[in-house]
Amino acid sequence: MTTAVIGTGFIGGTLGRAFAKAGLPTVFGSRHPEDTSVAEDSGATVATIEDAVAQADTIVLAQPSAAVEEFLKANDLAGKLVIDATNNVGAPVANHAAAVAEHAPRARYARAFNTLGGENFADPDFDGVKADLFFSATEADRAVVEQLIEAVGLRPMYLGENQQDTVDGVLRLWFALAVGQGRGRHLAFRTLTR
Ligand SMILES: NC(=O)c1ccc[n+]([C@@H]2O[C@H](COP(=O)([O-])OP(=O)(O)OC[C@H]3O[C@@H](n4cnc5c(N)ncnc54)[C@H](OP(=O)(O)O)[C@@H]3O)[C@@H](O)[C@H]2O)c1
Repeated sequence: MTTAVIGTGFIGGTLGRAFAKAGLPTVFGSRHPEDTSVAEDSGATVATIEDAVAQADTIVLAQPSAAVEEFLKANDLAGKLVIDATNNVGAPVANHAAAVAEHAPRARYARAFNTLGGENFADPDFDGVKADLFFSATEADRAVVEQLIEAVGLRPMYLGENQQDTVDGVLRLWFALAVGQGRGRHLAFRTLTR
């Protein structure tokens, strides 16, 4: 199973390197594939966006929100799992589930890696406790997404199928605390159960 990470910025770079370091085959899809610096020593490769998509079963969207629709229109995602980490911040709906359904109707959709500042993907350990990463996917795709979340060092917290709005509620909670209340970006969540 190869994962393509589209976008080599803060989120894409952090996630892709973590996947590769955990031993998961990973290719970055970049508009400038000749620059392989994003991979560092992780073992990930860098390709054109088209080649990265062709190689992969799972596609992580880690580009600016404004670039998502063009990507969906330009690439054949049929039969692939699209994990949406992008946030249309300030818009009524932060996720791109509707755009995926419209432009890539034969792709499968999951919502993950969008609820925390990227600092917490780079360092998910809070005094020896792994932060939770809330996500939505079909039951069939759950294990794939959980493997990627665990590769980053977070604890997967499954919210069910088609629960992207619930996941995005966690995003709003994170912004309210980290930014609104000035608690800072090194902030994450842990679910308690008894
Ligand atoms: N920053 C966070 O803490 C955070 C947390 C969770 C989710 N997110 C979401 O993750 C996504 C990426 O955020 P980021 O902070 O990683 O952004 P970023 O550092 O600016 O990286 C975005 C990357 O997307 C690629 N890209 C593709 N099309 C682009 C275009 N038209 N214009 C600019 N870049 C384009 C670029 O990689 P190439 O040049 O290699 O193509 C670029 O490096 C956003 O949707 C954001 O909402 C961010």
